[in-house]
Amino acid sequence: MKGIVIFLILLHNVCGVKDYLFKDCDNSGFCQRNRLYAKNIAENESPYAVSQPSLVVSNTAQNSLTGVITKSIPQLDETRQFPFEISILEGSILRFKADEMRPETSGGMIRGNRYNEAAKWAFQDPDVPYESKYPVNVESTDQLVTISFGPNDTKAEFDVKDMTIKIYYKGQLQLVVNERNFFNIEHYRKRDENDKHLLPFESDFDSFKDSHNTASEDSIPLGPESIGLDFTFAGYKHVYGIPEHADSMSLKDTSESNWPYRLFNVDIFEYDTDSRMPMYGSIPLMLATKPKMSTAVFWLNAADTFIDIHKSNDVKTHWISENGVMDFLVILGETPAEINSKYGRLTGYAPLPPMFSLGYHQCRWNYNDEKDVLDITSKMDETLVPYDTIWLDVEYADAKKYFTWDIDAFPDPERMLKALDRTGRNLVLIIDPHLKVGYYVSDEVRKRDLAMKNSKNETFHGHCWPGESVWIDTFNPGSQEYWDSLFVRSETNKVMGGMSTNIYVWNDMNEPSVFDGPETSAPRDNIFYDGWEHRSVHNIYGLTFHEATFESLTKRLESSTRQRPFILTRSFYAGSQRTSAMWTGDNMAKWEYLEASIPMVLSSGIAGMPFAGADVGGFFGNPSKELLTRWYQTGIWYPFFRAHAHIDSRRREPWVPGEPFTSIIRDAIRLRYALLPTFYTCFYDSSQSGLPVMKPIFYECPHNVDAYEIDDQFFLGNSGLMVKPVTSEGATSVDVYLPDNEVYYEFTSGVPGKAYKGPKTVDLDVELADIPMFLKGGSIVARKDRYRRSTKLMQNDPYTLVVAFDNQGKATGKLHIDDGESYGYKEGQEINLQFYADSKGITAQFETVPDPTYVKAMQKIKIEKIILLGHGNDDQALVTQGEKSWQVQIVDGEIRNAGMSVAAEWKIKFATKLTHDEL
Ligand code: NOJ
Repeated sequence: MKGIVIFLILLHNVCGVKDYLFKDCDNSGFCQRNRLYAKNIAENESPYAVSQPSLVVSNTAQNSLTGVITKSIPQLDETRQFPFEISILEGSILRFKADEMRPETSGGMIRGNRYNEAAKWAFQDPDVPYESKYPVNVESTDQLVTISFGPNDTKAEFDVKDMTIKIYYKGQLQLVVNERNFFNIEHYRKRDENDKHLLPFESDFDSFKDSHNTASEDSIPLGPESIGLDFTFAGYKHVYGIPEHADSMSLKDTSESNWPYRLFNVDIFEYDTDSRMPMYGSIPLMLATKPKMSTAVFWLNAADTFIDIHKSNDVKTHWISENGVMDFLVILGETPAEINSKYGRLTGYAPLPPMFSLGYHQCRWNYNDEKDVLDITSKMDETLVPYDTIWLDVEYADAKKYFTWDIDAFPDPERMLKALDRTGRNLVLIIDPHLKVGYYVSDEVRKRDLAMKNSKNETFHGHCWPGESVWIDTFNPGSQEYWDSLFVRSETNKVMGGMSTNIYVWNDMNEPSVFDGPETSAPRDNIFYDGWEHRSVHNIYGLTFHEATFESLTKRLESSTRQRPFILTRSFYAGSQRTSAMWTGDNMAKWEYLEASIPMVLSSGIAGMPFAGADVGGFFGNPSKELLTRWYQTGIWYPFFRAHAHIDSRRREPWVPGEPFTSIIRDAIRLRYALLPTFYTCFYDSSQSGLPVMKPIFYECPHNVDAYEIDDQFFLGNSGLMVKPVTSEGATSVDVYLPDNEVYYEFTSGVPGKAYKGPKTVDLDVELADIPMFLKGGSIVARKDRYRRSTKLMQNDPYTLVVAFDNQGKATGKLHIDDGESYGYKEGQEINLQFYADSKGITAQFETVPDPTYVKAMQKIKIEKIILLGHGNDDQALVTQGEKSWQVQIVDGEIRNAGMSVAAEWKIKFATKLTHDEL
């Protein structure tokens, strides 16, 4: 056994992805069975029917239609019943839920009913409001129940005989549920009776056993329990979302492959690109877009899930999950952004992160000791590279026992934290859910009965970084209290830096990753709190863990000024965006991984998780100097911007490659810092609307079908900044698509250039130092141009505005300002400026009323410079703020020394030569 474990650990360290460790559809029992069912149902009669007498129609959003679906098992002369309900949630979201009335339950240690608590974790408010804005009207005839429930003639037609639901908007069909009759719920049966329960065209493959090489010990106590259903996105050609996959943004047809897109959180080391294999996180939200309309399906299930996609004139999809209730939501909107907004109201928007977390994060496995950490900091300063956070990977802890320190390497963590704090720097510590056996934390977890259990309901033991470990069960409410006690901010809690407030957390391996477990995770028949099988809750475990950490950090920081926690998680689920940032795990230092990182981050944003990034430089291997440079130039656009490297890789901090690379990397990082006011404003927007921060091109012009597949360029939120990073080796030119009928100003590496008129493709020459960027006409973005060591030290710096006039000579923009660390902005300690510009001048107005004390404190912060792109020949302007007016010069399209405070409204009037009267 020991030998096997060592082998597995070594394997984990050195080898590429091992396909045979992970199940494709052919060797996953429930997937294979449902695909076969789908294949055969066309020539067979469905055993499912809606029981007409059971239908109860009600004109309320809460339960518009309830009833029972029956399944007949002719050979036994039996039927099974699946009560269902259709309700309408706020945002005109249709929800369908069907459960199984089980004649008996397995009893014993696990719950016998189907898992029905995914919503508890995914939704922001488990008591999600029902639709109240639009009346719900239900009409029924013999065969058809019509539910009208939203604006513009939104309606669902439930065909009782065919068991289909057709959803219309503005009289146009958008979605058909069960068009292909794939609706299937494998009903409960006992092991020895399985044969009798099978329909003639069904298979019993792996119903009560698992023949996959890693999972043969699965006891599958409840037998086959899967659910399957098809959705046809009518008239759509493209679907997106369902992260996490290392794939294109527009999802691919999977009908000819044994790899449908799979959602099952796994530690997939050295994953392949162009792959539908499962990865670390899962968000079962799929978005379809066509001109003037978007439709999304949110499949609320936490078990292993496969999604088949077939593209024709419609996009036909087949969703298959291993177990759980059948619970899905349909979200409609005229634009993809509207879907994000509605989905975000349901599952929560990503909150505004602390400003430091938008700065540059320096990580590697590992920075070895206190001296190493402080040397990195000094070297950053010597080479004039701004950075905010240094990260410590597993080696900081004594024998990888979290909440301890390797005391030889880090004799005084508090001293180190203080030294970092002097220049506004922060520390992030890794804390994983596996706890080495035999030390105070794992002992206490066992004592309090907070560990994940095996199928015999005994504490589960498995292997991970520290060797033999137990896993904290963060489904258990009791875990929170204990977790909190470990993070408490007090003089005596030395392991978390005493009273320090510049310490944050990285939750890794929370799929959970178990080196010697099936598919690198815990056995599916393990048991979590309240008797739920691991199989039922698998994709949610990671979320429960980072949410527990978020709660604990919140409590820790409560009484400080730095109240907003920062957590990075590897595993995630729908709703994770409320408490954590994510990154795309263990990529490789190869060009194709750099390229793949952009669609991966875009997909994450589409699925409501905007705070995302990839390891800059590539985790495994050693990037060439060119690749490293190009990766920084791309990484500055990831909403979460962190360099990270494997323990076996060579050092590669910005100064390592030498000139000209170091200067180019430094300039890229500085560009990120200069644009932080714009990034922060985009994050603020996102926290109000769910809008992706790295925004797909088709969000900007949702009616332009030519933009639907572009996933190598993107916008920075609604700022108007559009970027196409160079992601290929030796590139000397790139094609950039200007997606709409507007003027675009070339803005390579942040320097204004030529204006082009879209829509068209522009061929730009590029050198190593170039980051191809454009600023769309009509936008105004804010920068802070002075170099500082960290975001904290930039707080009082003046702003520069870049105004890019559109075809009509107008521009608008926004700027959100607050202290970057507290929740004061929720009580008015914020400035939200809205800028408008036209040929006559520029105005800045408050969008929200700021708190007067905050205004006073911010009075001294100035807008020093305004850069005008596409403006006429005026050479002077008159600035008015409050009682004061002053004249400024426009030189080479720039107002230098503008001099307005950001804390009050102002006006600028352009003129060619101001007359005395105008002054
Ligand atoms: C796996 C993570 O993906 C990686 O980023 C980290 O360095 C290692 N675990 C070690 O903690």
